[in-house]
Amino acid sequence: MMLYSSSKNLPILSFICMIFLIFAYDLSFAADQKTYIGSKNCAPCHEDQYNSFMKHSKKAHSWNSVAIMKPKLKEHELKKCYECHTTGYNKGGFKSIESTPDLADVGCETCHGPGSEHAENQDPQSINRKPAVETCTACHSSERIQDFKFKPLIFSGAH
Ligand code: HEC
Ligand code: HEC
Ligand code: HEC
Ligand code: HEC
Repeated sequence: MMLYSSSKNLPILSFICMIFLIFAYDLSFAADQKTYIGSKNCAPCHEDQYNSFMKHSKKAHSWNSVAIMKPKLKEHELKKCYECHTTGYNKGGFKSIESTPDLADVGCETCHGPGSEHAENQDPQSINRKPAVETCTACHSSERIQDFKFKPLIFSGAH
């Protein structure tokens, strides 16, 4: 009751309430929202897929393609590259090379979806086993298919 005794304390009280609300919101968000964890975190349980992916897929190094051209690009051009050359950009995944280096390449979760819940419960139901072709065409768009004269098959470019 001390808190209500003087109006001077009101701002403090509302500040505490605000912090509490933000915190509570964050917790509920984390509970039902799958997040991106990066390919490295899939490796301990899926060693074969991981090793094969790192060795054979160009996706595993797709950040390099951006990094090489970075000095010549304006900020808005660079952000365009992120949409196809990183994992989960604008979907709660990649933000910047400094804050989310583990999501800088096109990783496992690009095709299989964010893996936080699955890595936790190891339930096959909590991860996307069969990515649809539409997943691919978001990046391998008809424009690019023409430019590069190359259209990937659903089973290629993975592991
Ligand atoms: C702690 C261990 C663990 C981690 C970490 C883990 N998985 Fe799994 N995963 C499993 C198990 C167990 C299965 C079910 C058995 C199997 O199919 O190998 C599975 C199955 C899968 C399947 C097949 C699902 C199906 O319907 O058959 C995919 C795809 C998959 N995981 C992708 C991933 C990706 C991508 C990551 C990283 C974001 C990841 N896993 C992280 C343990 C793990
Ligand atoms: C988030 C964007 C994105 C999605 C989604 C995506 N790709 Fe790619 N893919 C790329 C990029 C970027 C490269 C080139 C990487 C580089 O060289 O820098 C690439 C390269 C490839 C290659 C070239 C050869 C190789 O081994 O890497 C194949 C094949 C391929 N992807 C197939 C697929 C298939 C099949 C799907 C859907 C199941 C898919 N991709 C989904 C971005 C994507
Ligand atoms: C719409 C998705 C998309 C956007 C946007 C995009 N890329 Fe790509 N990029 C790809 C795909 C897919 C490939 C693989 C070749 C193919 O199949 O088109 C690729 C290939 C490349 C390659 C050739 C890599 C190799 O191994 O030969 C370079 C370099 C590259 N991209 C750089 C960039 C840069 C820099 C930007 C931003 C200015 C950018 N890309 C924007 C999807 C995209
Ligand atoms: C370009 C898209 C793509 C990427 C990237 C990708 N996968 Fe897959 N993954 C697939 C496809 C397609 C299948 C086959 C689904 C089916 O059987 O129809 C698959 C199947 C799997 C399976 C089931 C067992 C198997 O081998 O068929 C596991 C486990 C798995 N992926 C893990 C991973 C892990 C771990 C990574 C990252 C190191 C990864 N995937 C990256 C597309 C991808």
